Amino acid sequence: MKILVIGSGGREHAVIRKLSENPEIETIYALPGNGGMKEAVLVPVSAMENDRIVCFALENEVDYVVVTPDDPLAAGLVDDLTDAGIPCFGPDRKAAEIESSKVFAKNLMKKYGIPTAAFETFDDAEEALRYLETASFPIVLKADGLALGKGVLIAMDHEEAVDAVRTIMQDRKFGESGKRMVIEEFLEGPEVSVLSFTDGKTVVPMVSSMDHKKAGDGDTGLNTGGMGTIAPNPFYTEEVAARCMEEIFLPTVRAMREEGRPFKGCLYFGLMITKDGPKVIEYNCRFGDPETEVVLPLLESDLFTVMKAVTDGRLSETEVRFSDRSAACVMLASGGYPGAYEKGFEIDIPEDVEPSVFFAGVKEKDGKLYTNGGRVLGVYAVADTLRDALSEAYAKAARITFEKCFFRKDIGKRALEALERTGEAGGEGASEA
Ligand code: AMP
Ligand code: GLY
Repeated sequence: MKILVIGSGGREHAVIRKLSENPEIETIYALPGNGGMKEAVLVPVSAMENDRIVCFALENEVDYVVVTPDDPLAAGLVDDLTDAGIPCFGPDRKAAEIESSKVFAKNLMKKYGIPTAAFETFDDAEEALRYLETASFPIVLKADGLALGKGVLIAMDHEEAVDAVRTIMQDRKFGESGKRMVIEEFLEGPEVSVLSFTDGKTVVPMVSSMDHKKAGDGDTGLNTGGMGTIAPNPFYTEEVAARCMEEIFLPTVRAMREEGRPFKGCLYFGLMITKDGPKVIEYNCRFGDPETEVVLPLLESDLFTVMKAVTDGRLSETEVRFSDRSAACVMLASGGYPGAYEKGFEIDIPEDVEPSVFFAGVKEKDGKLYTNGGRVLGVYAVADTLRDALSEAYAKAARITFEKCFFRKDIGKRALEALERTGEAGGEGASEA
């Protein structure tokens, strides 16, 4: 069997490595992939060229395509592949709107009573500014569309909120994403990421995880794509998991079906556990990065079998089993990220550490790897306890060197503190929507 995976980051590497465990898969193509993906054959085509991707898949008799990043999903790559008769994993364009339009997602939650921050939507800057005159602070301002995870601004007072409206709607800092915006209530509480498999009817949450979005230790500095993750997330107790299933996961899958946009693929729930219960902060129409780097190493079932069941609408009959161990991933980044950074530094990785690495922003030349992006690679470990997984991941990270390398030293600290207070968390299982 031949599989094509679209994308080039650490998340895609985690997907590829998991798929490569299936002996029936002879070839995995990564488009465009990166030079660290030894399990894959790289295809130097942009992930946004739908026509070329469909042609490549047909010419090379690809049996199945996994579309992982948000942009190609929002651009209808799954629709085009499906029209060409190529089975694939991922939502179609209409279902992907759950991530690509925050206005759509918020209105969906309002219509179906799914708990989320109270909000108003605006397509006119003057109207948004008028609304702020009577609003309370802090307040959260979000550009409607995809903005590389950067289109969310938290304003502590009226002045900062006015600046945020100008930045999003008038200066168009996030481009066309700022044509419309959402202004919403500021929520407080620990954040939990729950990726789930859904075929549009059944939803199977994967093991929960926790991202660390800020660049600096102690959650300081700028927002990044994610500097590290742990799984499971200790704030996701069995009680919280049961509430999420009833109040959020099943209602969302049902709502998408009722709207004529059945969601098939990986639906990512970004949750905040507030004192009033779990609420949705955001939906993503795809695997999270770097959540996937801790979630898939804990998956004991065959990933391809589960993905194919999603495509074929047979998820209810398919076993999806996760280990009850813990995983941690630490991202090594280029100095300066998420701002400007240099590229092209040689990466030195001991041979015994390489199997614990998911490569992201790297390039291969003459058998050597060089830095080629902000987030360069993730080092992960799986162990019986979170403490051991973190120690192992950090010990391995310390043995990798490249110029201007930096990483957070406190990944998992908050989770460890919570575990000390509350004990282990858990609670996954499949349910019909
Ligand atoms: P998003 O891209 O929507 O996930 O937002 C990025 C980050 O902003 C989230 O991970 C939260 O930390 C924060 N955030 C988003 N919405 C809210 C909210 N309503 N209240 C508090 N923090 C928020
Ligand atoms: N790590 C957050 C995301 O993938 O959106």
